[in-house]
Amino acid sequence: MKVLLATSLLAVDLTSAITVAQITGDRYQSSLNGTGFTNLTGLVTAKGPSGLWLRGTAPDDNERTSESVYVFGAAFARNITRGQIITIDGNVTEYRSSSAYLYLTEVTTPRSVRIISSGNAVEPVVLGKRTLGLIGRRDVSPPTELYSSLDTNNDIFAYPNTVSRVSAENPRLNPGRSGMDFWESLSGELVTVQGVTALGRPANTFGDQWVYGDWKVNGRKPRRGLTVTPEDANPETVIVGTPLDGTRNVNTTKLGDTLETVPELPPPSNIKTNGKCDGITDGSYNAENFAAGNPRVPRIVEHIVKYTNSPSIVFLQEIQDNNCETNNVNVDANATLLELTTALEASSKIPYAFTDVDPVNNQDGGAPGGNIRNAYIYRSDQIRQFKPNPGGPLDSNAVLPDPTLRYNPGRITTPQVFNSSRKPLVADKGRSSSLEGDARPPVNGRIDNRIAEGEVTGAFIAEILAQDRNAAVIASGDFNEFSWVRPLERFVEVSGLKELDVVANVKDVERYSYTFK
Ligand SMILES: *[C@@H]1O[C@H](CO)[C@@H](O)[C@H](O)[C@H]1NC(C)=O
Ligand SMILES: *[C@@H]1O[C@H](CO)[C@@H](O)[C@H](O)[C@H]1NC(C)=O
Ligand SMILES: *[C@@H]1O[C@H](CO)[C@@H](O)[C@H](O)[C@H]1NC(C)=O
Ligand SMILES: *[C@@H]1O[C@H](CO)[C@@H](O)[C@H](O)[C@H]1NC(C)=O
Ligand SMILES: *[C@@H]1O[C@H](CO)[C@@H](O)[C@H](O)[C@H]1NC(C)=O
Ligand SMILES: *[C@@H]1O[C@H](CO)[C@@H](O)[C@H](O)[C@H]1NC(C)=O
Ligand SMILES: *[C@@H]1O[C@H](CO)[C@@H](O)[C@H](O)[C@H]1NC(C)=O
Repeated sequence: MKVLLATSLLAVDLTSAITVAQITGDRYQSSLNGTGFTNLTGLVTAKGPSGLWLRGTAPDDNERTSESVYVFGAAFARNITRGQIITIDGNVTEYRSSSAYLYLTEVTTPRSVRIISSGNAVEPVVLGKRTLGLIGRRDVSPPTELYSSLDTNNDIFAYPNTVSRVSAENPRLNPGRSGMDFWESLSGELVTVQGVTALGRPANTFGDQWVYGDWKVNGRKPRRGLTVTPEDANPETVIVGTPLDGTRNVNTTKLGDTLETVPELPPPSNIKTNGKCDGITDGSYNAENFAAGNPRVPRIVEHIVKYTNSPSIVFLQEIQDNNCETNNVNVDANATLLELTTALEASSKIPYAFTDVDPVNNQDGGAPGGNIRNAYIYRSDQIRQFKPNPGGPLDSNAVLPDPTLRYNPGRITTPQVFNSSRKPLVADKGRSSSLEGDARPPVNGRIDNRIAEGEVTGAFIAEILAQDRNAAVIASGDFNEFSWVRPLERFVEVSGLKELDVVANVKDVERYSYTFK
């Protein structure tokens, strides 16, 4: 008799209805993947064009398991409304559209739908707070530094990249510690973000928008953006994706937008040249595929004259040839640069001259036919080129005794190293994987090329400093990399230069040059 009782208790246990949390599990991929189940009960919290989201009605207090799951099936979802509690049978499936992404644990082939009740209240989980029942009791404030326990030494920028994959390791979630684990533990959940601050403009034409809410954040700067700092790429931010109701997100947001608007640009610099050799100033400006005839001229002039105070030298990037992206043999950019210096002079009454080296047609990356290159513009009332002797695109510059340069200006050209990239220093990044993707640490495209570029350019500078340790060398431009990532670390090690932000003791959250996008 006793034995029979035990058996029947055990049988009840084994066949007791399944919960959402048992399906989602405490790892990225469900241990139930590929199996069927019966009698899953949940509240419909949202509907989309191809399915709906179900929140379990029997939540646990385990912060690792998500209490909500996506149920795929357009025909199934059509007859069901938000606020209904339903019971279904179905299958557990791991789905992803690309091997770069994480898997989504979802329910497929939902069947035997039983509607238990309708018109129930649907409350969102408020992010940044402690939950008291809806999805059990847990803290839903995102971690602020670490992305994944799989990132080498907890560093998302670690080199080499792609040492492991989430899909292969399928780690147990640690939502209190790793940002990716935190968001995975809320996969499919209906949430509210309060006190929203926008991080830059929408990320794409759908209006997808990175934001943070009124929870603890790291790297916040006065303009309300979040600066990426060493080992901290801000996992506490989240993207607001395409609305489910067919409406569109506002696509005019910009950095720092909340309910009010803040200036898009930081305050103008108060650093001014004193007009003497010991007080020249320099600035760096990415003109973003700029060619003669571009309507952005007044804007660029305003940035250089008003916001950077008309520096003695401006290091320009992404200067296109005179005929923009017309893909012909022309590589000359003198009309492009003349248009800019003429407009600068008209606005500031300061004369500017320019210098650059034309590339070989279509060999330096960027838009085909555009032939972007680096160029210098400089105040001709303060600065002149020392013994001008311009090199051609294939003339490899060298450090000669004194020290002096073989070509002035000239390019550092090492074809194997600077293939399809701007010379001497700037390089395109190639394909990188998303920070939240499968590969850990994430893929940093062409990183080995860029390490080599940093080393070659660093060695050139080291040669100058070996001859004259007080030589005034500035390495400037768009390095396409954070200063704590391997290509720039190697550049600093090999060249012997120091990062100006570090020397000037600039606060770490102010060490940025770009808000994306
Ligand atoms: C599922 O629900 C049906 C109908 O309520 C019931 O007959 C069956 O025993 C349940 N199965 C399990 C595994 O709970
Ligand atoms: C999920 O299960 C299916 C069917 O058994 C299998 O083909 C697939 O590889 C599994 N996916 C993962 C991510 O384990
Ligand atoms: C779903 O689960 C059922 C029951 O386990 C199984 O018979 C069926 O083959 C599964 N369907 C799919 C598409 O995996
Ligand atoms: C939806 O409801 C209608 C009307 O009750 C019914 O005829 C139809 O079969 C249902 N469709 C599905 C997919 O359940
Ligand atoms: C912004 O949204 C408006 C209205 O939906 C649309 O007409 C416009 O093309 C969008 N702009 C961009 C840059 O996507
Ligand atoms: C650009 O240089 C070419 C060739 O040196 C010259 O013919 C042309 O006049 C120059 N254009 C401008 C706008 O200075
Ligand atoms: C440069 O890259 C192109 C295309 O990726 C390749 O065909 C070519 O061989 C490379 N050249 C050198 C010098 O590495």
